[in-house]
Amino acid sequence: MFEQVDFIGSYPKNSIIPEFEIPEICFWGRSNVGKSSIINYLCDRKEVAKVSTTPGKTVQFNAFNIDGSLILMDLPGYGYAQVSKKVKSKWKDEIHKYLKNRKNLSCLFLLIDISIPPQVIDQEVMKDMGIMNIPFIILFTKSDKCTKNELNKSLKQHIIKLEENWDPIPSYFITSSAKRTGRADLINFIHDHILNSDFN
Ligand code: GTP
Ligand code: MG
Repeated sequence: MFEQVDFIGSYPKNSIIPEFEIPEICFWGRSNVGKSSIINYLCDRKEVAKVSTTPGKTVQFNAFNIDGSLILMDLPGYGYAQVSKKVKSKWKDEIHKYLKNRKNLSCLFLLIDISIPPQVIDQEVMKDMGIMNIPFIILFTKSDKCTKNELNKSLKQHIIKLEENWDPIPSYFITSSAKRTGRADLINFIHDHILNSDFN
């Protein structure tokens, strides 16, 4: 998997994203959480998705074709402080429309930085997903920034927060694109649950 990766296009609006007949996965999370980095890591390429030097760089839907059998969508991040309320609300709307209506969407991966405590903005996004009935898988990112001890502590904190709203809590993976960990589990999951599921 992830042998052939082709950039399809960037789309500033949900309504102009072409329809595809193959399953699609998307990556979403706070601006700067490591979406582009994890996409590059998954694809085993240096610059499939542009890694930001300044946060908030991806302000469009970026689509990639993986091996001709999977679409990967990089969504614009949320929570970037320099963006006006109006623009934030427009993007929230665009992404909600995408998540609700995208016919071939098989899985939303929500990225959460495990090197910092649970953030209110992530809780709010997860709450929205609950209300909209959109299931998601959590990808904890930047685990390399913690020692093993800190990582266990932080994971516990995040799980306690999740348990306040979810029973059972969403499935999760712990990753680091900097230290290159978590890829095999993620690829197995995509292979078993997305490509080999009854998608049609
Ligand atoms: P936007 O597109 O701006 O919303 O950001 P993004 O979510 O795509 O994040 P991006 O991949 O551009 O990474 C943001 C910053 O975090 C960059 O400086 C990365 O080098 C850094 N980063 C990403 N992943 C990791 C990781 O696993 N570990 C560490 N230590 N840093 C990371
Ligand atoms: Mg990005």
